[in-house]
Amino acid sequence: MSIEKSYNSWANQYDTNKNRTRDLDKLATIKTLSKYNFDSVLELGCGTGKNTIWLLEKAQLIIGIDFSEEMLNIAKEKIKNPKVIFEKSDLTKSWKIENEFVDLITSSLILEHIKELDFIFKQTYKKLKPNGIFFICELHPYKQYYGSKARYETENGTEELEVYTHNISEFTSVALNNGFKLIELNEWFDDELNKNELPRLISFVFQK
Ligand SMILES: C[S@@+](CC[C@H](N)C(=O)[O-])C[C@H]1O[C@@H](n2cnc3c(N)ncnc32)[C@H](O)[C@@H]1O
Repeated sequence: MSIEKSYNSWANQYDTNKNRTRDLDKLATIKTLSKYNFDSVLELGCGTGKNTIWLLEKAQLIIGIDFSEEMLNIAKEKIKNPKVIFEKSDLTKSWKIENEFVDLITSSLILEHIKELDFIFKQTYKKLKPNGIFFICELHPYKQYYGSKARYETENGTEELEVYTHNISEFTSVALNNGFKLIELNEWFDDELNKNELPRLISFVFQK
C-alpha cells in the first residue's frame, strides 16, 4: 500500500492507539521548542494536528501540510482556528509557499517516509526567514536498525509502512551542505532515568 493510502487508513485510530513514538514526539517538541520564539510556522506532515495544537499557543500563523486527506480531515475537525491553514500536498514536490516566509519549520515523524532528504532541506532553507529554525524529530535510526518502523493494526493484521533509514551523519551532512548550522541534537528515551536502553527518538534544531 502507498504511504498516502496507509495514512488514510490509519487516520481514524492515529490519535487513540497506544503509540509511544507519537507521545514522546509531542513531549520532545514541546520541551525543545518552548525555548524558541516564533510567530509563523510551517508544519511538514502535520497529520492529525497533534503538535499544531501546542504550536498555536505561541504562533500567529501555522501552515500544516500533509498528503493524507484523512489525516488532514481529523486535524480540520479538531482545530478550527483562523490562524491555521491546512493544505493537502506532497512534500517531495516543489512547495507552493513564498520564499523566506516562516520563522520555524517543523518535521515530526515524517522523514522516515522520505527517501531524499536533500530536497526537503533545500526547500526548507528557501522557505525559512533569515536565522529561521528547522526542528526535526524522528524515530532514532538505532531503533530502525532493530526493525522499528511506523505500523498500525488492522482487522487483517499489522500494516507496516514503507520507510527509509537516515543515519545521524546523513541528517547533519545534508543540513550543513545546505547552509544550516546545527544548534541542538537530543536523544529521547522511553525512561529518562534509564539511558542504557535504545533511545526512541532523535531531534535536531538547525538554524538558517
Ligand atoms: C507519523 S505521521 C506524523 C504526523 C504528525 N507530524 C505527528 O507527529 O503526529 C506522518 C505524517 O506524514 C505524512 N507524510 C508522509 N509522507 C509525506 C509526503 N511525501 N508529503 C506530505 N505528507 C507526508 C503522512 O501522511 C502522515 O500524516
